[in-house]
This record gives sequence, structure tokens and C-alpha cells, in this order.
Amino acid sequence: MSNTIDHPPLHDEQTRREQALTETVVASFDGTPDARLKQLMQSLTRHLHAFVRELRLTEDEWNTAIGFLTDVGHITDDRRQEFILLSDVFGVSMQTVTVNNEADADATEATVFGPFFVEDSPSIELGGDIAGGASGQPCWVEGTVTSTDGTPIAGAHIEVWEADEAGFYDVQYDGTELAGRANLTADSAGCYFFWGLTPTPYPIPHDGPVGRMLAATNRSPYRASHLHFKVSAPGHRTLVTHIFVRGDELLGSDSVFGVRESLIAEFTEHSSATPTPDGRAIGDRSWTSTRFDIVLAPTRAKTDSHSERHR
Ligand code: BEZ
Ligand code: FE
Repeated sequence: MSNTIDHPPLHDEQTRREQALTETVVASFDGTPDARLKQLMQSLTRHLHAFVRELRLTEDEWNTAIGFLTDVGHITDDRRQEFILLSDVFGVSMQTVTVNNEADADATEATVFGPFFVEDSPSIELGGDIAGGASGQPCWVEGTVTSTDGTPIAGAHIEVWEADEAGFYDVQYDGTELAGRANLTADSAGCYFFWGLTPTPYPIPHDGPVGRMLAATNRSPYRASHLHFKVSAPGHRTLVTHIFVRGDELLGSDSVFGVRESLIAEFTEHSSATPTPDGRAIGDRSWTSTRFDIVLAPTRAKTDSHSERHR
């Protein structure tokens, strides 16, 4: 086996021992009754062993990794999921989203879910305000929900959530109030519109082991400014996505790799003197407006299995 680091070529007997160990561990899963579990365990074994062998992992490095994962476990509780955060910063969450939301015509791309969704957000009417006390520049958001064949999806269910201008979600406040989130229903033409807040950048929680890892690797914990959407309708794949702000300087360095070019939207700034789309008076603040047309993929029956397609 070739080494990716400076290491003298291995003696044949050394290579044989390492290879034999990998094969023995792979074979230990041969009797797994569930075929998919067997595939997952054997492939994971091969990838983990390849990593240890290629990198010539030292015992100190192995110990450091165990200590790190132990810290990730210790800081995880009902409110904080450091393992998901770890998956996020490795791009594993985003890769899993990508694999599970296969490109389908011009269906809107999915992106990471994040930890700040809440099931029971307030329901608002079309044109309502999701702020609920969260501070920030008002932002008029409008668009349509259609199927990939262009048919409007009347009554599509839309959940939206975002951080306030200080970069905090309501669930990070001391109290229990809900703010910066709501759910609404598209009208009979698939149109929706509401008042939100102009998205601002914020860091993912970085006071734990994942934050230390980002610091050690000179990576920023900041997410590009975004507004979260979860859109569902009968007969269609539920879409979890965001819109990002064109021109945001963090678009190229989002800490969880969630940015997709197709999800970057224009947020147009308007002076306080500009009339708002619904005539709402918003005082002496400037405001922004954006448009996000959402296309949902129809759910299709799966005709072929994983193992057949990816053999
Ligand atoms: C978020 O966008 O809310 C988020 C996503 C991944 C990790 C942390 C936060
Ligand atoms: Fe977010």
C-alpha cells in the first residue's frame, strides 16, 4: 500500500499483516442478518482501516481522537447535539442531504436542517410577520410553490425560521418565547408572502470541542446569512432548504457547507420612504425585499434498490 505521508516503503510482511487484519474484521460481519447493516459495517471497516494505514496513524493521534470524541459526547445533551455539529463541519450532513435529495429537473436544492427548527411554530396568515419580537431589518419575502411540471401547488405548507440581527435564534434566548419563526400556507395559486428579517451572519455553537477543532484548523465558525424554509405538500418530496443573501462575503466559507449557487437570492434594499408591498407602515427604518420561487419534486416510487444502483 502506498503512503500519503513521508514513510519508507513497507516491508511485504508488514503489508500482509495489515491487510489480513482488515480482512479479518470485515469477515467478522459476514453473519450480519440485515444485508444493509452488513454492507454499512464492512464498508466502514474498510474506510477506517484505510485511513489508519494510509496516514500511519500514531498511537498518540489515536488517543487524541478518542479524547476528542469523548468530549463531543460529554457536551451533548437534550439541548446540544455536538455529534451533529461535528457531522456538519465535516460536510457529512450536507453530503447526506445531497445524496438523499437527488437532482430532479429544476426542483429547488435542499440544504442542511440545522439544530434550530421547532415543531410548533406560530401560524401566520399570508402577509403576516414572523418576527414575533425578534429584532432586525424588516424583509418582505414572496414567491411561488410549484411542482417540477410548473403546476402551482395550492396550499403548500411553509415553515420559516431565522436568527435575529444579533445572530441568535429564539431557542437560544433565556426565556421560552418563540420569535423569528412561523408557518403559513400558500394560496390557491401557490403564492406566498410574509414579513421576515433580513438575514445576518452568525456562528454555529463554537464553545465546545467542535469549536476547538475549527480554531485548530484555522476555520471560521460563521454561517453565511440565511433564512430557513421547510416546504411540504402531498405527493411531493418535503424540501428543507435556505435562501442566502447575494453579496454576503461569507458565501464562500459557510462553516457547514450549506451554500448552493441556486439558493442565493437578491435582497433589495429600500429606503423608509419607499411604500411597502402591502402598505404596511414600518416607521423610519429601511427594509429589504426578496423573491424565492420554490419548486418541489414529486415523490416517485423507488423501482431499484441501493445495491443494484451502486454496485
Ligand atoms: C443553522 O443554520 O441553523 C445551523 C446549521 C448547522 C449547524 C448549526 C446551525
Ligand atoms: Fe440557521
